[in-house]
Amino acid sequence: MNRIFSGMQPTRQLHLGNYLGALRNWVALQNDYECIYCVVDLHALTLPQEPDVLRNNIREVAAAYIAAGLDPERNIIFNQSAVSAHAELSWILSCHAPLGWLNRMTQFKEKSQGKQANDAVLGLFAYPVLMAADILIHKATHVPVGEDQKQHLELARDVAGAFNRAYGQDYFPLPEPQILGEATRVMSLRDGTKKMSKSDTSDYSRINMTDDADTIAQKIRKAKTDPEPLPTAVEGLAARPEADNLVTIFAALADTSRADVLARFGGQNFSGFKKELVDLAVDRLAPITTRMRELTGDKAEIDRILKRGAERADAIASRHLAEVKDIVGLLRF
Ligand code: TYM
Repeated sequence: MNRIFSGMQPTRQLHLGNYLGALRNWVALQNDYECIYCVVDLHALTLPQEPDVLRNNIREVAAAYIAAGLDPERNIIFNQSAVSAHAELSWILSCHAPLGWLNRMTQFKEKSQGKQANDAVLGLFAYPVLMAADILIHKATHVPVGEDQKQHLELARDVAGAFNRAYGQDYFPLPEPQILGEATRVMSLRDGTKKMSKSDTSDYSRINMTDDADTIAQKIRKAKTDPEPLPTAVEGLAARPEADNLVTIFAALADTSRADVLARFGGQNFSGFKKELVDLAVDRLAPITTRMRELTGDKAEIDRILKRGAERADAIASRHLAEVKDIVGLLRF
């Protein structure tokens, strides 16, 4: 049986990269798979958080899921910390994850940059093992993510394989990454060589899912470009990261390909293209933003959805955790 699992961290605001690289694909997948979508609040604790802000962000991410089109009845939507089997499996898997594998993780290297080696916290280093546990506790077979999560997913597969070998059985399926659509890696609007990210100090580097139409327009107008007109073919985007990024965003929002976008705008300068991109982005994002605002205004409803989701997730996760405990030789009463 196929089962999807994926998640987002409730750290600051979601942005266009999260939407195009992941959330939008999740909405499409709900028609064909059993899906579990998690707000990974324990992962958020790997960087310093303000408790009240974190609480709000957890609800806001859940609201974004629903506003983008995930049906909380058809899918299981919950916050990670509400299902303790995630953290418990993480411990067991950490006993099967060699330090050498974790030392290779580029995200840890990036996030601990600027810190003395011994000051980075253990949770940040162990982050990919908790992510493996998220997926494996549900025996998920497919994991839709943006390209930046590929290395973490490889680790999840390796850890699943190590566990299976250690106990001589094919218990965990090896989860397949699903890196889908045109915009698997949305780049910063200020620098086409850097990933669009929540942690960028410039708000002009990203379009947030809560930005209003004027803000979106301003950010796109100010987005970095180069002096050449748009190329007529995809090959012409090769050494032009900012042009490539804007064309990719356009293609993803319009549900078409970069080649189609260039067939329409090739040879033109950026100003006309940017005007169209503003209209398209506002058209696609405004209904989601409006719905998100409505939902976040009703905390009790969000909490009810998360609680119900946690109960459903727990029913799956507890069963698997019990099986894992039996496999590894722990006593259950
Ligand atoms: P997070 O919260 O950083 O991002 C959530 C999702 O958004 C995608 N994404 C992007 N896609 C395209 N372009 C970008 N600029 C961009 N930025 C982010 C991410 O690839 C991701 O799919 N470790 C995960 C959360 C996690 C998880 C899991 C995911 C925890 N456990 C289990 C899948 C399965 C993360 O930090 O995502």
